[in-house]
Amino acid sequence: MKILVTGGAGYIGSHMTRMLASRGYEPIVLDTFEFGHRQALPNGATVIQGNVGDASLIQRIFAEHKIHGILHFAGYIRVEESMRQPIKYMKNNVIAPVTLLEGMKEAGVKHIIFSSTAAVYGNPVTPLISEDHKKDPVSPYGLSKWAFEELLRVYDRSFAIRSIALRYFNAAGAALDGNNGEMHAEESHLIPLACAAALGKRPEFMIFGTDYKTPDGTALRDYIHIEDLCEAHILALEALFSGHQSDVYNVGTGQGVSVQEVVNVVKDVAGKTFNVRKSDRRSGDPAVLVSDPRKLMREFGWKPKHSDIRNIVESAMRWHATHPEGYSG
Ligand SMILES: NC(=O)c1ccc[n+]([C@@H]2O[C@H](COP(=O)([O-])OP(=O)(O)OC[C@H]3O[C@@H](n4cnc5c(N)ncnc54)[C@H](O)[C@@H]3O)[C@@H](O)[C@H]2O)c1
Repeated sequence: MKILVTGGAGYIGSHMTRMLASRGYEPIVLDTFEFGHRQALPNGATVIQGNVGDASLIQRIFAEHKIHGILHFAGYIRVEESMRQPIKYMKNNVIAPVTLLEGMKEAGVKHIIFSSTAAVYGNPVTPLISEDHKKDPVSPYGLSKWAFEELLRVYDRSFAIRSIALRYFNAAGAALDGNNGEMHAEESHLIPLACAAALGKRPEFMIFGTDYKTPDGTALRDYIHIEDLCEAHILALEALFSGHQSDVYNVGTGQGVSVQEVVNVVKDVAGKTFNVRKSDRRSGDPAVLVSDPRKLMREFGWKPKHSDIRNIVESAMRWHATHPEGYSG
């Protein structure tokens, strides 16, 4: 069965591509390679360089391949950049993938899984965030994801395109076989930054905010190992293939881990200390962002198996230590 993986050369998409191939699916990767890495992809994968917003390319892909389902990862992901350049996020995360939906409509492709985010909720008003928590995105990034979720509801009602939006909390960690890991341009994610500090590739690690109302004063986040995250995609896709209706699910562990705890685990796993600088809070960073993942667990029998923070950090550290120059090394 052929599965189109947009953004399939990125951090999560490339892991997903490997998992699909190992489960007997035939992944077809579509990526601009603005940020993705060819070296992250398994040998023999079909790879198409191009944009989800390119209507004639999308038409051609659907004409040349019988696509059973789509995993849509393609998008821009930098929250702070989206504050400065909202239009860039609206174009790439909302307008471009509408072309994909139009192509699906024309070609009769009926199933799509969408990478959404906890950023659709904005500042939480409950300790655990369930799917029906109010949607009040603070950033244009979060807004772009919420807007595309709404578009999916339109295409469901009008054209019977069935979708599952998975709202990830913090995707983290590297492949357990050491084959691929997290490598974003202008890295802003906490675990790779802390690993880089531990490996001496950065002079220090910054903690933004140490006066939150949390047990140690630093912000609490919910980290999900990419292996568990990708497993949720397989379950969601197979549910759609079996006739599941369109829906939305959180993907997280339900456990908050503080920034300070992550730093402590990274130091412990690396067996090294590094400079940690404490700075003011960043605007728009909530104190606590922790999922209520029970809907996904209940309905799909999903359970995180690799998302213990030590396990996440060990896998990440292994990858960073063996790939000091990332994929370019
Ligand atoms: N990393 C996280 O913690 C996290 C959390 C919540 C949601 N997400 C979502 O998951 C998805 C994947 O995230 P990631 O961390 O793997 O990011 P990434 O930047 O590593 O991967 C995104 C990929 O999409 C490609 N791309 C971007 N725009 C494209 C377009 N118009 N057409 C084709 N390819 C395009 C990029 O070249 C890149 O390879 C994103 O949609 C992101 O918003 C990620």
